[in-house]
Amino acid sequence: MNVLGIEGTAWNLSVAIVNEEEVVAIVNDPYSPKEGGIHPREASQHHAEKMPSLIKAIFERFPKEKIDAIAFSQGPGLGPCLRVVATASRLLSLKLNKPLIGVNHCLAHVEVGRWKTKAENPVALYVSGGNSQIIARRGNRYRVFGETLDIGIGNALDKLARSFGLSHPGGPKIEKLAKEGKKYYPLPYVVKGMDFSFSGMVTAAQKLKNKAKIEDIAFSFQETAFAMLTEVTERALAYLGYNEVLLVGGVGVNKRLQEMIDKMCEDRGARLYVPPSELMGDNGAMIAYTGLLMLKHDYRTSIDESHVRSNFRIEEVEVRW
Ligand code: ATP
Ligand code: FE2
Repeated sequence: MNVLGIEGTAWNLSVAIVNEEEVVAIVNDPYSPKEGGIHPREASQHHAEKMPSLIKAIFERFPKEKIDAIAFSQGPGLGPCLRVVATASRLLSLKLNKPLIGVNHCLAHVEVGRWKTKAENPVALYVSGGNSQIIARRGNRYRVFGETLDIGIGNALDKLARSFGLSHPGGPKIEKLAKEGKKYYPLPYVVKGMDFSFSGMVTAAQKLKNKAKIEDIAFSFQETAFAMLTEVTERALAYLGYNEVLLVGGVGVNKRLQEMIDKMCEDRGARLYVPPSELMGDNGAMIAYTGLLMLKHDYRTSIDESHVRSNFRIEEVEVRW
């Protein structure tokens, strides 16, 4: 079976085709804001402009006659971007006369990670721009055991970077600066039960700007934020009695975060699984692969049900595999 997947919830417009074993073709056209963060309207205009050429490009790499279904990111994400993706997907489904499958974006991050690492029943630490959640499967659903009370860790890093005059995305730039940092400045460590919060930390870190070196601020920010994420992940492991951790989402490529989670896993006799970097951030392959799983288990999305779901939560999906 071959499934085509379209991702475009935020910055990356990406179309991919997968079969059970591998990603057979993928084409990307990321949007990067000229200044500031991601503007939903601008991003959606970018997606609308680039969609036709990406679809054309993917069918130059793989014959459209061999596609069995069209999967698309139905949410969560930026409304205007989701609408572009859903419209293109409906059109393709009708034109090729193949079933349409609406995929939850968070579920796709987790499933592509499991596919590529062979993690079986992990606690997933899903860290991206818009989301930060600790997810694990219980029965026929994934549940969120802890999450950010305000902004995602990626957005927090991007915001901090922006106040230093660094362009979007800020995460990789903060990682690089933090490597040169040595002095630790305490920042608000906010963990409430299993949830956590980052926006107060950003404000506190911004206030250090005239007092501290930028490398030290980046270092202090990463140490504090990643310690919060590690603590909650460890608590989920202990509570559930699981022994696997799967890191997913764009922030998951951060080496310091990987190191901290790995150390925690080692101390508890658990194992950390890290998918290939190109499949950690938003990509079409994760949507195509989750669509393939869903196709095999008889999920279909009628045109009537294919409306965008900007607040779509992972718990809403019944998992049949
Ligand atoms: P979602 O819709 O799942 O929230 P997203 O649109 O934020 O996804 P992702 O590609 O999953 O997209 O994540 C992008 C985020 O990852 C950005 O905030 C970016 O700064 C951050 N990021 C990328 N590389 C690194 C890195 N090396 N260290 C820290 N953060 C990083
Ligand atoms: Fe994402």
